[in-house]
Amino acid sequence: MTTVLGIETSCDETGVAVYDTRRGLLGEALYSQIRLHAEHGGVVPELASRDHVRRLSGLVDEVLAQAELLRTDVIAYTAGPGLIGALMVGASFATGLATAWDVPVVPVHHMEGHLLAPLMSGEAPAFPFVALLVSGGHTLLVRVDGIGRYTLLGQTRDDAVGEAFDKTAKLLGLDYPGGPAVARLAESGDPGRFRLPRPMLDKPGLDFSFSGLKTAVYLLAQDEPDAGPDIARAFEEAVVETLATKCARALDAAGCQDLLIAGGVAANRRLRAALSALPGVRLHTPPLNLCTDNGAMIAHAGALRVSDAIARPTAMSARARWPLDTLAPPAGAST
Ligand code: KG4
Ligand code: ZN
Repeated sequence: MTTVLGIETSCDETGVAVYDTRRGLLGEALYSQIRLHAEHGGVVPELASRDHVRRLSGLVDEVLAQAELLRTDVIAYTAGPGLIGALMVGASFATGLATAWDVPVVPVHHMEGHLLAPLMSGEAPAFPFVALLVSGGHTLLVRVDGIGRYTLLGQTRDDAVGEAFDKTAKLLGLDYPGGPAVARLAESGDPGRFRLPRPMLDKPGLDFSFSGLKTAVYLLAQDEPDAGPDIARAFEEAVVETLATKCARALDAAGCQDLLIAGGVAANRRLRAALSALPGVRLHTPPLNLCTDNGAMIAHAGALRVSDAIARPTAMSARARWPLDTLAPPAGAST
C-alpha cells in the first residue's frame, strides 16, 4: 500500500488529492480560479501562478486531514505541459515538501493524468484502446497499448477543441470558461437552422482543424446577432460530428472497439451521447468531476508510476511543451 499526494497547477485550477494504491481516493480539494480570470475573459498566466502560491498549502492541509494522514509516501506533481509559471509553482512546492518529508517525487504528464483518470472508476478497458483527449490546450487521438505506450493517431493543426469552445463563447458574448456556457446556450438552440463546416472530414487522416470553424462562427454571429442559441447549437453539432467521425475512423485504423474520452471537453453531454451511439463501440468515460483538471488524476497517475519515483530530488521538472508520445512505460514494466 502506497499513499500519493497529487498536485496539479498547470493552468487555472489548484488541484490536490491523496490517492492510496489499495483504498483509492482518500482526500480531494480543488480551487478554481474562474472568478479571478473571468473579468479578463481568459486565463492570465501571472495571476494564475500567484494564486497557486496562495492556495497550495491550505489545500494540502485539507486533503491530509480528509485522508487522516500527516504525510504521504510519495508526492506526484504535474510537470507539464501547461503554463510554465503555474507549473513551476506546483513543481517547486512539491519538491520542497518532498525534501521536508524525505519522500520521493513523481513528475506527471498532465495529459497522461487525464488519460488514465477513467481507470480510477474501475471500469477500465483492456489494452489496447483508443483515447480521445480533448481539453483547452489539446485535441489528441491516441492508441494506448499500455501505460506509457502511446501512439499518436491524430491531433489538431491549430486550435484545440476546448479553445474553440472558449473562443465561440467569447464571440457569442458568454462568460469564461466557454465550454459549459456554449453547451448550456445550445440547449435552447434550433439544430436545423444553421449548418457550420465539419473541418477536415472530407480529407483522409485523423488530424483536426478548428480555426476555420471559429471564423465561420464569427461571420455568422455578425450576420445574425440575435441567433446566439442557434449558433451555439450549430457549433456544438459541427464539433461533435467531427470528433465522432474521426473517433470511428481511429477505432477502425487501430482495430479497437474500446474508446475512452478524457479532458475537460469530455464533460460535454452531446459529445458523450454521440460517441456512445457509434455502432460497435464501447465508450469509457470518467465521472464529470474527473474530466476537468483536478488533483486526483495526478495522484492516481503518480501511483501508477510509483516505480519512476525520484528519491531526494535535487531539481524540479517543469515543461511548457511535452509531447505525450515521448513518454515511456513505467520503470520495470513488462513490455
Ligand atoms: O482539461 P481542462 O479542464 O483544462 C485543460 O487542461 O485545458 O479543459 C478545459 C476545457 C475548456 O476549454 C472548457 O471550455 C472545456 O474544457 N469544457 C467544455 C465543457 N466543460 C469544460 N467544453 C464543452 N462542453 C463542456 N461541458
Ligand atoms: Zn487538463
